[in-house]
Amino acid sequence: MTRPWYETFFDGDYQLVWRRHFSEVDTAREVDLIWRLLGLGPGMRVLDTVCGFGRHAIPLAERGCAVTGCDLSETELSRARSATSVSGTTVRWLKCDMRELPFDGEFDAAFNVYSAFGYFEDDAENQRALQAFRRSLRLGGGFVFDFANVLSLSKRFRKRDWDLGEDGIVVLREARPDFRHGITWEVVRFIEPGKSPRESTFGVRMYTVDVLVAMFERAGFRVDRILGDWDEAEVSFESPRVIFTCTAV
Ligand SMILES: C[S@@+](CC[C@H](N)C(=O)[O-])C[C@H]1O[C@@H](n2cnc3c(N)ncnc32)[C@H](O)[C@@H]1O
Repeated sequence: MTRPWYETFFDGDYQLVWRRHFSEVDTAREVDLIWRLLGLGPGMRVLDTVCGFGRHAIPLAERGCAVTGCDLSETELSRARSATSVSGTTVRWLKCDMRELPFDGEFDAAFNVYSAFGYFEDDAENQRALQAFRRSLRLGGGFVFDFANVLSLSKRFRKRDWDLGEDGIVVLREARPDFRHGITWEVVRFIEPGKSPRESTFGVRMYTVDVLVAMFERAGFRVDRILGDWDEAEVSFESPRVIFTCTAV
């Protein structure tokens, strides 16, 4: 049986291509807004539900929060562990599928950012992930969720695009949207000097704001605010992101 794309995609060439795009300035701005929207302070127990290499979890721990970071990718988690061992910061790292977070009311706040959601073709599985986020929180705990704004994505849509990665890799991307199921599949070809071309595919379920609100409510969240970007602009047809602030009820 072939493994689902999200089990392998983030360990492979993704590392050589996407990590160039994470700027420290953007990450610092995201950390600031997560801090303010969740009303964080030293000693608060915070869960980064899908932490990647820990770019948000580590600075929040440095500000005094008791942070746990979960992710499915061992590659991302080992980068995160190395970063904490260099800086001396303490973060609890856990390899775990987002649908199966092993927590029950343990956190004062949680977040899921940079479109780390919608990876399962079946809506019920994406809903399960939201339930797991809610279950991890104590009653009244805050939750920040950041996802691409589908309405603005459709205006910026390009069928084919290209990018440059590390080590001279050229990346060709071809979108193959599946409108019937609301999934934007993308085939990514990696062309590296002196090597055979490689190919990976990923697909994200493109949820609109109203559908996400209904999913949050079904999971036991109240949606308090919806922003359109990390500068706190209101959500609009043009805004690149949708950022929800929710409360566990
Ligand atoms: C776009 S990155 C975002 C990571 C992080 N939030 C950030 O902003 O840097 C998506 C992450 O999702 C993780 N991931 C993919 N499928 C997952 C799953 N089923 N459960 C938990 N993590 C998963 C990947 O390993 C990757 O680190």
